[in-house]
Amino acid sequence: MIFLGIESSCDETGVALVETQNHGYPRLLSHALFSQIDMHQAYGGVVPELASRDHIKRVIPLTRKVLKSANVNLDQVDVVAYTRGPGLAGALLVGAGVACAIGASLQKPVLGIHHLEGHLLSPFLSDDPPEFPFVALLVSGGHTQLMRVEAVGSYEILGETIDDAAGEAFDKSAKLMGLGYPGGPTLSKWAHLGNPQAFKLPRPLLHSGNFDFSFAGLKTAVLTQAQKLGPDLHNPSTTHKADLCASTEAAIVEVLLKKSMAALKATGMRRLVVAGGVGANRSLRNQLNESCSKAGVRVHYPELHLCTDNGAMIAMAAAMRVQAGKQQAELSYGFDVKPRWPLGSIESVAL
Ligand code: KG4
Ligand code: ZN
Repeated sequence: MIFLGIESSCDETGVALVETQNHGYPRLLSHALFSQIDMHQAYGGVVPELASRDHIKRVIPLTRKVLKSANVNLDQVDVVAYTRGPGLAGALLVGAGVACAIGASLQKPVLGIHHLEGHLLSPFLSDDPPEFPFVALLVSGGHTQLMRVEAVGSYEILGETIDDAAGEAFDKSAKLMGLGYPGGPTLSKWAHLGNPQAFKLPRPLLHSGNFDFSFAGLKTAVLTQAQKLGPDLHNPSTTHKADLCASTEAAIVEVLLKKSMAALKATGMRRLVVAGGVGANRSLRNQLNESCSKAGVRVHYPELHLCTDNGAMIAMAAAMRVQAGKQQAELSYGFDVKPRWPLGSIESVAL
């Protein structure tokens, strides 16, 4: 079966084709992405109305592109999948509307997919896919969660952020240092040049004894340091900016690392899956690799280019859900979107 996946929950339009196989996990046939980052950068963050309008412009050309590069005709598509939530309501409606229109015109089933389940299952598209069960560290722009994953659709949340997500901590810290939007990757580049011990920053909830996170206080501490440094933060003859970036990254990474290792210990699981945009962070990967190898734990990541939002993870989650019998692909084209949608509640979903 061939699955067409459409992602439009935030500032990236992603479209992809995934094919199920008789043996092994579904495989990626082609994917295409248009990032709106340049457009939103001028505003210092995502402008929802502009995001929706741009998704409308991009989604059909990207669909044509993936069909052409996989040498697949539209009528060979068996199921059309789209991101149903969580995300920006207007942006989600674009993907949902287009997916249902394509499905109705082909008389093929349409499936609404949870964006975070897409991230969670994206490592199954890599050359070294995980096996169930595992502990998952889901670190995206809007979510930070540790989960116990027994199978497709079986997600128990062990802990999550009580305020900002890890990606938000990167982005907000970067913004107040004048590093643009989204600041995570830029902050991380500066961090490589700095000293992670230069500034003492808090490690929120590190010793809380549970698996919850809190990053709002860290952002405030970064702001206080930046204000203390004043214009000197940007003085090219000092290393202040690189040092503050390195110290911020070190604080975020240490909390994610220690909580993940504690979750592995508490569950007795021997496998960790990292997913979501922050999973692209080099320092996080290096430190997780080192700690997991010492603890005899296998750690899996999505391919670097599939860490942030993309259509491949949506097509993949749809294919894996159908294969696992978690979701019936129905010929029904009435759609809704769920801008807020907890991941723990999607054992089986009816459209
Ligand atoms: O998963 P994602 O694409 O979006 C959501 O579903 O929210 O994640 C985007 C987040 C942003 O906060 C971005 O700054 C962060 O991932 N990010 C990074 C890196 N690459 C992306 N944060 C730190 N280091 C990176 N290399
Ligand atoms: Zn995402």
